[in-house]
Amino acid sequence: MIGTANGARVGITGLGTHVPERVFTNVDLEQFVDTTDEWIVERTGIRERRFAEKHEALTDIAGPAAVKAMAAAGVEPASIDLIIVATVTPDMMFPTSSAILADSLGMPDAAAYDLLAGCTGFMYGIAQAYAMLASGLSKRALVIGGDVLSKILDWDDRSTLVLFGDGAGAVVMERVEDGGFLGFELGADGGGGENLWLPGSGSRHFENADKLVKMNGREVFKFATRVMVASAEKILAECGKTIEDVDVYVPHQANRRIIDYAAGKLGIPEEKVVVNVHKYGNTSSGSIPLALADAAADGRLRKGELVLMTGMGAGLTWGSALIEWTEGRAA
Ligand code: ACO
Repeated sequence: MIGTANGARVGITGLGTHVPERVFTNVDLEQFVDTTDEWIVERTGIRERRFAEKHEALTDIAGPAAVKAMAAAGVEPASIDLIIVATVTPDMMFPTSSAILADSLGMPDAAAYDLLAGCTGFMYGIAQAYAMLASGLSKRALVIGGDVLSKILDWDDRSTLVLFGDGAGAVVMERVEDGGFLGFELGADGGGGENLWLPGSGSRHFENADKLVKMNGREVFKFATRVMVASAEKILAECGKTIEDVDVYVPHQANRRIIDYAAGKLGIPEEKVVVNVHKYGNTSSGSIPLALADAAADGRLRKGELVLMTGMGAGLTWGSALIEWTEGRAA
């Protein structure tokens, strides 16, 4: 799916993030699997990640991110009429994490649902919220991307354990005076789904299946480098923009090598690329909002700047969005 904004200006008016307290360095992981700090840094760029405590679930991480996003936007929870939680690690299948948060945060008038699109979930979530806001169905939306992948990782598998971390980010989306989203490109290739999958997690019966992440790293690497470039090129062309127009590039934070490859192939200079994979690892749906927040903290998200975001992940899925950064909602 690809399309440009239909004239209605919809932007991000508040951004908030939250990560668990507990830091695991690469050296900490050496006690669980046969790995080294050197191998992890060289192959992935990751130095540390956050892992939730045993008692912490997704809404414990996503809730504080949502509160910060609403505070940044200066809006009351009760004014949110749509909450979408993009995640592959909800507290449980139902009630949904979005419904749990709508209740605990105080959003009695909100439509609430969880969205399952792997690490691309946040991109799918903002596209859906855009459509509902642009059509007038929703007036103010809260989109949360977050995961606690540590709960579904195989702590004996070095090829996956070292890559991921836990975290969440949230954005308030609403009509804005100027700027806002220019367009979205979203896609999926279920044929490659078994390269990154969670057998035994649903209604399909597998003999001796556990509920832990399985990944063919080399295939995912090839997929990632292909779609990160192709999706970005497609959305830029669709919106009549060029790489030179991009001020800030926010790629999914899976692996430093994937980010460097995509930025190099696209021709985006290093100073425009947001990277925080070294401190959080791959936080799945939390990755892009966490990176946006770091760019904001660095003073890199200024009004009028063109921001390109591209995600990819399980499904296999991918998605890009172009947004002209904005300040202030429509009157
Ligand atoms: N520590 C030490 N050695 C390891 C580790 C580890 N943690 N993991 C694997 N190895 C070993 C392998 O067993 C292999 O050993 P062998 O040669 O004796 O068989 C060797 O290292 C090389 O393995 P490769 O898989 O070829 O290593 P590669 O250079 O491809 O890097 C990696 C592996 C980092 C997983 C890479 O393939 C990758 O980043 N893939 C993409 C993964 C990804 O981004 N997944 C998530 C995307 S979607 C989402 O965000 C949910």
